[in-house]
Amino acid sequence: MIIAGISGSLRKNSTHRGILRHVNTVLAAKDITFCEVDISGFPLYDQDLNDQGIPAAVQTAHEQLAQADALVLASPEYNYSVSGVLKNAIDWFSRVENQAFNGKALSIMGASPGLGTARSQYHLRQILVFMNSVIVNKPEVMIGQASSKFNEQGDLTDDITKAHIAKALDALIKLCQQLAK
Ligand SMILES: Cc1cc2nc3c(=O)[nH]c(=O)nc-3n(C[C@H](O)[C@H](O)[C@H](O)COP(=O)(O)O)c2cc1C
Repeated sequence: MIIAGISGSLRKNSTHRGILRHVNTVLAAKDITFCEVDISGFPLYDQDLNDQGIPAAVQTAHEQLAQADALVLASPEYNYSVSGVLKNAIDWFSRVENQAFNGKALSIMGASPGLGTARSQYHLRQILVFMNSVIVNKPEVMIGQASSKFNEQGDLTDDITKAHIAKALDALIKLCQQLAK
């Protein structure tokens, strides 16, 4: 099994990139390959640009997603919604032929100082209806009070949250296996 992840935050010490690093650790122990897909080089979506072809950075990222059996999206909440960089990436992916989110098991995770990105996660679910992903409903991964659970480098340090993410990944793997039947 291969699982691919995208962070909706690009910054070096991002807590969402920290979530993906922890996801990698949990999956490695199960002999599951994980790769973080890089969306930092995507241009802003512009249909004129799209008409000239899918940009190379989008194509490369999409190929990684297509090779994966399941996906993890870890995104901050920006102004009560999905981060612009993640929405921009999804807009690009939605224009690629045989788009890779279609029918694929997907887990949403997020961390914030307040409500753990709950509001934005429900926006993200709505966007993913169009993408036709099959989203893990439970457990939800909404990490509140994030400053006490990550260090300055964005590494997840809280054991309860680590265990919760491991449970969410078990649910993702199970859903992925059910879809493969
Ligand atoms: C433009 C912007 C908007 C934000 N809006 C929200 C918000 O609506 N709700 C929230 O809980 N946090 C909000 N935050 C704080 C983020 O949750 C916080 O910066 C988080 O650590 C970003 O994730 P990262 O560590 O992966 O970069 C916002 C931050 C920025 C920069």
